[in-house]
Amino acid sequence: MKITVVGTGYVGLVSGACLADVGNDVLCIDVDAKKIRLLQEGGMPIYEPGLKEIVRRNVAAGRLRFTTDIQASVEHGTIQFIAVGTPPDEDGSADLQYVLEAARNIGRYTSGYRVVVDKSTVPVGTGDKVRSVIAEELVKRGEKHEFSIVSNPEFLKEGAAVGDFMRPDRIVVGAEDDRAIELMRTLYAPFQRNHERMIVMDVRSAELTKYAANAMLATRISFMNELANLAERLGADIEHVRQGIGADPRIGYHFLYAGCGYGGSCFPKDVQALRQTARVDGGIEMKVLNAVVAANDAQKRVLFAKTVARFGHDLNTRRFAVWGLAFKPNTDDMREAPSRYLIADLLGAGAEVVAYDPVAMAEARRVFGDHAALRYASTPLSALEGADALIIVTEWKEFQSPDFSAIRDRLRTPVLIDGRNLYDPEVVRASGLDYIAIGRGGSA
Ligand code: UDX
Repeated sequence: MKITVVGTGYVGLVSGACLADVGNDVLCIDVDAKKIRLLQEGGMPIYEPGLKEIVRRNVAAGRLRFTTDIQASVEHGTIQFIAVGTPPDEDGSADLQYVLEAARNIGRYTSGYRVVVDKSTVPVGTGDKVRSVIAEELVKRGEKHEFSIVSNPEFLKEGAAVGDFMRPDRIVVGAEDDRAIELMRTLYAPFQRNHERMIVMDVRSAELTKYAANAMLATRISFMNELANLAERLGADIEHVRQGIGADPRIGYHFLYAGCGYGGSCFPKDVQALRQTARVDGGIEMKVLNAVVAANDAQKRVLFAKTVARFGHDLNTRRFAVWGLAFKPNTDDMREAPSRYLIADLLGAGAEVVAYDPVAMAEARRVFGDHAALRYASTPLSALEGADALIIVTEWKEFQSPDFSAIRDRLRTPVLIDGRNLYDPEVVRASGLDYIAIGRGGSA
């Protein structure tokens, strides 16, 4: 099939590359000429495991191409995926200008039937807006071309996006007509494996499904974080509690990890956007979401609070080693990362910070700019020399099983503050480290 993907950001690039990989003829368009040139020359604008290989393979096979030519992109694909950004407005609602601009272009240049598939995360009702914008452009041109509107939200996890696209647990399709549904079925047939994974519904329900999924997961995390804070005060260990409740299949083990707050490009933005949609379009205040946001805002500062509780408010003569800058492992993404809050707070209190991350240090340099008190180490252990404590923010695999004696020997004071509950407290303490984790009162 001929497919156009508008937007070569994270979602667009992964979708375009994976769709090309199963044999489709995919043209990706972006207004960012520099990014398109980079992609044409075999470069990668983002770090995502496995993506580079798929892009290279399909570019070489001629199935995946990149352009800045809007007209050519509208002419190319019967299916037009819109995968552009929807950054938050000041009030937290999603800014639709890029989505609607993509729709306008489709209306401006289409010359035949088009299925316009929205993959960007957009508020309920956006499908209707996209339809009106395309229809308006067609009226201006005095032309009649058929088109269908589809909502097909993505559920890609950063760091696992290629696998998530290739082996989805569900494919949500919101559509209004059989012609579009049939095309989507054909398009996704290679990804369905042995049984039907496509869930067909109306456009509005599909749009809401995306927000509902992320808000539900964010709620679980915030609830676990609050339980962890309580466990700590009550002398219980959240890791035991997690196993105890996760064994109930109604609860399950996934996404039940207490930590230093959720971050990333989706959860914070989507929870805010759903709350705003509820207020503006639904006329209701979603009390649970308010609490989720407040709990997460507080949790992002929990590592700093633990540092202050241990070392006092004046951190002027202190130095801290920070392991992990990305908002989660296997990505260099630092959007809304807890590390940003921790490092800003530490620097603000006069401390020195030496940070290490396997892939996100270049991104961190961009985020923090030049700062005399912030340095980067080339290995995890070298970050520790002369530091007062090691603070772990991201659970990279390479941090899972460290040499605790080597850590202790390099630190000025033997303190390990673990924002991800990576270790067995007894093992850490046996090596002479003071172990401060999240919600682990019972093992104090
Ligand atoms: C998320 C959704 O999982 C994905 O389906 C959607 O399409 C986009 O948003 P992503 O933002 O890539 O994906 O990351 P995810 O792995 O879901 O983690 C989100 C945040 O929650 C991270 O900050 C992570 O550290 C945190 N988290 C996750 C926890 O604190 N505890 C958990 O148990 C799980």
